[in-house]
Amino acid sequence: MKKFARIIGTGSYLPKKVISNFDLEKTLDTTNEWITIRTGIKERRVVTDQSTCDLAIEASKKALEMASLKATDLDLIILATTTPDKIFPATATMLQHRIGASCPAFDLQAVCAGFVFALSTAQQYIENGSANNILVVGSETMSKIVDWNDRSTAILFGDGAGAVVVSSDNTTGIKHSKLYSDGSYMSSLHVNNDRINELGTIEMAGNEVYKIAVKRLSELAEETLNDCNMTSDDLTWMVPHQANIRIISAVAKRINLPMSKVILTLDKHGNTSAASIPLALDVAVRDGRIKKGDSLLFEGIGGGFSWGSVLVEY
Ligand code: UT7
Repeated sequence: MKKFARIIGTGSYLPKKVISNFDLEKTLDTTNEWITIRTGIKERRVVTDQSTCDLAIEASKKALEMASLKATDLDLIILATTTPDKIFPATATMLQHRIGASCPAFDLQAVCAGFVFALSTAQQYIENGSANNILVVGSETMSKIVDWNDRSTAILFGDGAGAVVVSSDNTTGIKHSKLYSDGSYMSSLHVNNDRINELGTIEMAGNEVYKIAVKRLSELAEETLNDCNMTSDDLTWMVPHQANIRIISAVAKRINLPMSKVILTLDKHGNTSAASIPLALDVAVRDGRIKKGDSLLFEGIGGGFSWGSVLVEY
C-alpha cells in the first residue's frame, strides 16, 4: 500500500524584539513608504540573545504537541537553516538533544528554499518506509548575517522558526514535490565570505533576483499544477516563501489564483528564509484558515539559486 507523508502538527516561534520600518528610518537612508510599497514588509523580529537552535526548539515543541507525539517518537529530524549555530555539529543534533529525541538529525542548506527541500526529503523517507515520524524545521537568525548598513538588504530579513511533524499515512499527504538548483547564479545572492572561518554578510543583486524569482516560481507553480492534473481552482491555499509581496502577487496572477487564497505573513515577519513557509503555515493553521483536507501549494526560491515546490493535501 502506498504511504503518504502527511503533516500532522505545525508549530512556530518568533523572538520578542520587533524592528519596524520606522525604526529602520532612523538608521538607514530609507522610508516606511518605500519598504511597504516595494516589499510589503512593515516589521520583522530579531533575536537579542537567542540562537537558531533556541528558536527551533520552541517551534518544534509546539508541532510535536499538535501531533500528539513525544520527541522519542521521532525517527528523523531535518533542520533547514542558512544560519547554523556552529559550523559543526549540525544545529539539528543540538535540537535533537535539547528536545530529548534520540533519532538521526541533520541540517539541510538550501537558503530560502530550505523548507521545501527538507519537506521533499522527508517525503522520500516516509514513502520508502524508512521513517514513520519526521520533524522538519526551518529556523533562522538572518539578523546575524545581515549588513545593517546596507539598505537594500537590511530592510528585508527577519528571524524566526517554523516546524512540522510529518507522519506516515495510508490515505493522503504530500502529493508532489519538485526541486531545482542553478549554481551559476551564486553571485546574484550570496554571503560574501571568502573563507569558511569568516562570517560575511548577505549580498544581493535585488532587481535581478526579483525577475528570476518571478519567472522561476511562476513556471514551477504551473508545472506543479500540471503534474498533479490540477488547476489553481483546485488549490485551497498557496503558502509561498515570504520574500516580497510583488513576487508573490506576480506568481499568483500567472496561475490565476486570487490573492484571497494566498497566506501572507511578510508584513509582520519579513523574509525569514527557510522559516518563512512553516511560519506562515502555522499561523494559518492556528487561526483556522487552513483545515484538514485543504490543498496547499508551498513554493520558494533562495540564494544563488535553489527553488522548489511541494503540493500537499493537508
Ligand atoms: O528570499 C530570497 C530571495 N530574495 C528575494 O526574493 C528578493 C528579491 N528582490 C526584491 O525583493 C527587490 O528587488 C527589492 C525589494 C530588494 C528592491 O526592490 P526593487 O524594486 O527591485 O528596487 P531596485 O533594487 O531596482 O532599486 C530601486 C531604487 C534604487 O535607487 P535608484 O538607483 O533608482 O536611484 C535603489 O538604490 O531604490 C533604491 N533603494 C532604496 N530606496 C529606499 C534600494 N533600497 C532602498 C531602500 N530605501 N531600502
